[in-house]
Amino acid sequence: MDLVTALARARTPEKPGPDTPAGSAVRPWPGPALPLSEAGPGQLDLGRLLSLSLAASDGAGRLRPTPSAGALHPVDARLVVGADCPLPPGRYGYDPLSHRVHRLGAAPDDTPPGATVELSATAQRTIAHYGHRAWPLILLDTGHAAAALTLAARSLGVPPTALDLDGRAEDPLAAVHFAPPETAQPAVGAPTPSDLLTRRSAGPPLRGTPPQEALRAVLAAAEANAGDLGWCAAVGEPQPALVASAPDGTLRRLAAGEARPTLAAWAAGQAWIAEAGAVLLGYGCPTDADAPQIRRAHLRAGFAVHMAHVTAGRHGLAGRPVGAWQQADLGAALGAAPGRDWIVHGLALGTTHSEEGTS
Ligand SMILES: Cc1cc2nc3c(=O)[nH]c(=O)nc-3n(C[C@H](O)[C@H](O)[C@H](O)COP(=O)(O)O)c2cc1C
Repeated sequence: MDLVTALARARTPEKPGPDTPAGSAVRPWPGPALPLSEAGPGQLDLGRLLSLSLAASDGAGRLRPTPSAGALHPVDARLVVGADCPLPPGRYGYDPLSHRVHRLGAAPDDTPPGATVELSATAQRTIAHYGHRAWPLILLDTGHAAAALTLAARSLGVPPTALDLDGRAEDPLAAVHFAPPETAQPAVGAPTPSDLLTRRSAGPPLRGTPPQEALRAVLAAAEANAGDLGWCAAVGEPQPALVASAPDGTLRRLAAGEARPTLAAWAAGQAWIAEAGAVLLGYGCPTDADAPQIRRAHLRAGFAVHMAHVTAGRHGLAGRPVGAWQQADLGAALGAAPGRDWIVHGLALGTTHSEEGTS
């Protein structure tokens, strides 16, 4: 798969064809399913880490607590387990439905204590519905999963010691390493397990302009995790505008006027976006980006939007990620050079919303 060509095509107005079969929900890992036993003192609590991030937990057939374009969940997790874990060292495949692991082989000799979760994708799951638009979504989904793992670890007091979202490799696409805990005290301001397990994509329509303070916090959460992407938000009434963070922590106006109907048209014609209270936008990833840069931009955008989504929830806002963008050259629309600042990912926000739904 040539990612440069795939992204260029995903950005055109061409519509995907009819759905094809998505295949099995979970990658068929070989061998017997092993339980994730309870962690002893000084051990990394892998079972809890995965149940707060990647395990199917609500009994409603929802595959994972992380969001996923079309709820298709293409992201697979492999564990590289070292010392001080409730599993013998080795490589394992994780099954989110049974919350069990399958041993794949020995861990490399230099495996550090703790565990690394490697994320890869079964692309067919997303291709089945989104066709040629799938690849950017698969990368964004992987970024969301890496963020979900990071937040789960923070809520357990074992913050990740290494996060690889640099986009150099096709497999794994991303990796997060967790060292065994020294104290296991949740970090100050860390989300609670309930924040993580109750996060949902709010069903459209999402209405109501977010208060400035909440919007500033959401923008800051995205910017803190964004790599080299830029961030702004299109806000609605009473003064429709495009705003961004100012150095003093307030909001500055990038452009006056109503951007949301254009955003709705660019996001596969999803009309409800024109009514959203605000739409957070991550942009960059120029037309001449090579495959590692495309991977990095989308992994980072997914990661940042996930952080922003959980932050929005903690400020009482409803949020829904928006991932499929066509012809969304934000820079050109604002009068700058074309082909530099494409919208990579978004998060629709509101103070009210209808019931949860999927798209
Ligand atoms: C990368 C990505 C792109 C998404 N794009 C859209 C979108 O364009 N429109 C939409 O209504 N929902 C979108 N969603 C939200 C998903 O439909 C939602 O995450 C999924 O249905 C699972 O629901 P949950 O987030 O409540 O667990 C997107 C989610 C992700 C992670």
